[in-house]
Amino acid sequence: MHRLVRTVLVAGLVAAFSAGATAATAPADAIKYRKAVMAAMAAHVSAFVLINFGKVDQQEYLKSHANALADLGAQGKVLFPAGTDTGDTNALPLIWKEQEQEQFNKLIAQLETSSARLRDAVAANDKPGAAAAFKSLSESCKGCHDRYQKKDD
Ligand code: HEC
Repeated sequence: MHRLVRTVLVAGLVAAFSAGATAATAPADAIKYRKAVMAAMAAHVSAFVLINFGKVDQQEYLKSHANALADLGAQGKVLFPAGTDTGDTNALPLIWKEQEQEQFNKLIAQLETSSARLRDAVAANDKPGAAAAFKSLSESCKGCHDRYQKKDD
C-alpha cells in the first residue's frame, strides 16, 4: 500500500478509537449496544445447548461459548445507564426506580457469577457444576425478563 495512504488510514483509525474512548455514548446507541449484547448472549446460549445436549457434535467448542457467556455476562452492569429507559427499547422504566435497585442488581450479579461459574466448570470438565451454573444462568435471564422486559402482546 502507498505509504501516505497507509499513514492517513492509520491516523483515521486512531482518531476513531480515541473518539470512541472519550465521547459520551448517546442513549440510542447505548440501547442498541444493550440489545446487541443480549442477542449475543442468547446466541451463545443456543449454541451451548446444541452442543451440551448432544444435538451438535462440536464438543471442542463448548468452551468457547461458555467463555463468551462469561465475558458478556460480566458486562451486565454497564448495559443499563441512566437515560436509556425511553426510545427504541423494551426495557421497563421500573429498572431505574430507586426501590428496585437491590433486586435488579441481584439479577445483574447472578448473571455475572453464574456465567463465570459456567466457564470455570466447563474448563474443569465438571459436568454437575456446569449443569448447576447453567440453571442459575437461565434463571437470571428469565427472572430479569419476567419483571423488567416489556412483553409483546
Ligand atoms: C438484569 C436483567 C437481565 C438479565 C440478567 C438478562 N436480560 Fe436479556 N434483556 C433484559 C432487558 C431489560 C431487555 C430489553 C432491552 C431493550 O429492549 O433495551 C433484554 C433483552 C434481551 C433480548 C432481546 C434483544 C433484542 O435484540 O431486542 C434477548 C435475546 C435477551 N435479552 C437474552 C438474554 C439472555 C440469553 C440472558 C441470560 C444469559 C439475558 N438476556 C439476561 C434484561 C436482562
